[in-house]
Amino acid sequence: MTGRTNLTIVLAAGEGTRMRSDTPKVLHPVAGQSLLAHVLGAAPKGSSASLAVVIGPDHEGVEQEAKRVRPDAATFIQRERLGTAHAVLTAHDAIARGADDLLIVFGDTPLISAATFERLRAPLKRGAALAVLGFRAADPTGYGRLVVEGDRLVAIREQADASAAERAITLCNAGVMAFDGRKALEIIEKIGNANSKREYYLTDAVTIVRDLGLEAVVIETSEDEVRGINTKAQLAEAEQVMQTRLRNAALEAGVTMIAPETVYLAADTTFGKDVTIEPFVVIGPGVSISDGAVIHSFSHIVQSSIGKNALVGPFARMRPGTSLGEGAKIGNFVETKAATLEAGVKVNHLSYVGDAHVGANANIGAGTITCNYDGFGKNRTEIGAGAFVGTNSSLVAPVKIGNRAYIGSGSVITRDVPDDALAVERSQQTNREGGARRYREIKTRGKAPEGG
Ligand code: UD1
Ligand code: CA
Repeated sequence: MTGRTNLTIVLAAGEGTRMRSDTPKVLHPVAGQSLLAHVLGAAPKGSSASLAVVIGPDHEGVEQEAKRVRPDAATFIQRERLGTAHAVLTAHDAIARGADDLLIVFGDTPLISAATFERLRAPLKRGAALAVLGFRAADPTGYGRLVVEGDRLVAIREQADASAAERAITLCNAGVMAFDGRKALEIIEKIGNANSKREYYLTDAVTIVRDLGLEAVVIETSEDEVRGINTKAQLAEAEQVMQTRLRNAALEAGVTMIAPETVYLAADTTFGKDVTIEPFVVIGPGVSISDGAVIHSFSHIVQSSIGKNALVGPFARMRPGTSLGEGAKIGNFVETKAATLEAGVKVNHLSYVGDAHVGANANIGAGTITCNYDGFGKNRTEIGAGAFVGTNSSLVAPVKIGNRAYIGSGSVITRDVPDDALAVERSQQTNREGGARRYREIKTRGKAPEGG
């Protein structure tokens, strides 16, 4: 929204005990990104937007993640969990700077969209003091119920404090609110803890707004968008919703998927034109796929870039730091890591290429291994352009294979190979005339001949 300044406060101080995990709740991933990163990604950006994240004590990981995604984020530590309003007030200093709009969102609702934040800010522009995001819950148990009169919001009643009649209300508080930033502190500081849990409920802001003679409104959205994550089952549900969204966006962008429901994408996967992804492919974070590339079935790809018209798999594993050039190919049971394979490189079968650079159009035979680890450290392998590495070769790093060099099959290469050289490392072959026949006679002496 142009012209208006904004502060977004993300509440992420919860332990998330019901996740049964040592990892703070908001660091669990959906589509390869933390819950927190999803929320921060949807929050307003740009020079007129600022951000504060409220975290629990001993949650350095949460602070690091916040700063990774939004380096401009300020963090505030809530030492005691006394409720959502108390959590917001730990960011008092940020609120006191007085942005036009104050957005408050929970760190555990990863499916929220930027468009919804903008919809929620719109009533403030018209003079409302508070806009609350609501949704129709299939099962409202546990949520704060929105008590409305006509189109005015009169109160939010928490489950523990609700009457039987109020519990029957299905319009619920999603937990996202937008305040008039100039009035927010005055309103939130008035919130007390006279309720069954002795917590400072942010939801009490609604009655305070009303008592001040100001306007509170509800903006509705779908339940899918505001699913809060409290358990591993809910994490899996959110993953499903997110995957459906990502698959639809990919199809919309022109990606061909034969069975999209079997393809797993990450929130940051990017695609060129005419990309094909066959069934049962898993794509983790940090993957870009260029025009015309084909990802065959059962491939697993993380933090890698795939060039134009490149071919991957079936059964390929691309680990972090793989870059595949134009028209390059990695085939079945090939694993790559921290490897640049230039245009036209072929690694068709059963190989490991790690900590390596492979020059254009080199051909890496079946079963070739870059021996990058000596038990202490990682070492690099350089393979020149147009080189041919025969099948079942071991390239013991650090080692350099020259341009257009040729490595005989089965070689264990420990020394550099110059450009255009032929390197063969294996023992001499001996043929003994009639040896096979003599061997058979020894083994079959006194036995009837067998077939096969
Ligand atoms: C809250 C809302 C409820 C709404 C529901 C939607 C309140 C009082 N209730 O209930 O109306 O329907 O979310 O999911 O706001 N947090 C802190 N510090 C605290 C307390 C909470 O940071 O002291 C954070 C939590 O980490 C969490 C969020 O605030 O991300 C919500 O807290 P939670 O205790 O889950 O509230 P609910 O009971 O679910
Ligand atoms: Ca909750």
